[in-house]
Amino acid sequence: MIITKQALQLAQRNVKPAFKFLLERNTNLSRTWKRPEALAHPKIWRRWTGRFKVADSTPVQFRIQDVPEELFETVVVHMAKGMRDEPMFSALGLWDDPASTRAMEELWMETLQQRVSLVALVDDTRYLRYLGTDNVIAGVNILGVVDKDSAHIVPKVEGSKAQLFLDALAAVERRVDVFARYGVSHYLTGIGLAVAREFRGLGVGTELVRGRINMGRAMGVPLTVTLFSNPASHAIAHTVGMEVLSDVPFDRLSVGGRVPFPGARGSMRLMAKRIE
Ligand SMILES: CC(C)(COP(=O)(O)OP(=O)(O)OC[C@H]1O[C@@H](n2cnc3c(N)ncnc32)[C@H](O)[C@@H]1OP(=O)(O)O)[C@@H](O)C(=O)NCCC(=O)NCCS
Repeated sequence: MIITKQALQLAQRNVKPAFKFLLERNTNLSRTWKRPEALAHPKIWRRWTGRFKVADSTPVQFRIQDVPEELFETVVVHMAKGMRDEPMFSALGLWDDPASTRAMEELWMETLQQRVSLVALVDDTRYLRYLGTDNVIAGVNILGVVDKDSAHIVPKVEGSKAQLFLDALAAVERRVDVFARYGVSHYLTGIGLAVAREFRGLGVGTELVRGRINMGRAMGVPLTVTLFSNPASHAIAHTVGMEVLSDVPFDRLSVGGRVPFPGARGSMRLMAKRIE
């Protein structure tokens, strides 16, 4: 997957007022919340020893950190590749539609500007030397802070498949008033979790979600809420103590009279956890 020229231009424009307009039009992120200035960026949130081993049988070290600006483009490319296996996108055939692909890339690129997304990187000079590279991305969690005034916004995009995906997400999220239920004014939400195929099943996804909780606590964000679509991510959310707010089987979901994800197996599960 190649990142579009337009998405790169968006990234380069991120300090100009024109970009702010795009951010406000195209996402449901909070317009007022800002990452605390006192919190260094990029910050490392977790380090752990993985089950993955190099040639000499020594386990590889990983770290979870904020996505630094120099990795924004690489991270979007990683997402577009990793999310090919995501059940909703696969059922939609979203990646066969260039306009929808571009819409998703732009949405992720815009969300990265809020500076709360996380990347899992190989943190092991031996292994990096073995591969002959400086950076290996094992996984990414695109995250954003949503508030009462922004949560109802459904981004309007050009690709029809991406639009259907966003409409379906909104339809499920609308079923629960998380602000009333938890008595909060804002929360941290996930807008895509993807682990590189070669690193799946090693705990990277779980550590990314644990990292999100550490980060939320440091930023004073009281809650995290996410719609998970993959049985493996349901398992991760359960492991970190998230509770199920709503569980909608793909074949029972209807958006504008259409089944948006024909043939998808499983369910969209809205899950949440207080960050204390
Ligand atoms: C979903 C995804 C992020 C998981 O990442 P990961 O690093 O492989 O996950 P982890 O190794 O941390 O944990 C996976 C857990 O799911 C469990 N699991 C895996 N497949 C499962 C399945 N089909 N049903 C139930 N549980 C499953 C594993 O046993 C493990 O649980 P455990 O730690 O209790 O043993 C990864 O598979 C991925 O990128 N998939 C493609 C994109 C996608 O679907 N993203 C999710 C969007 S919500």
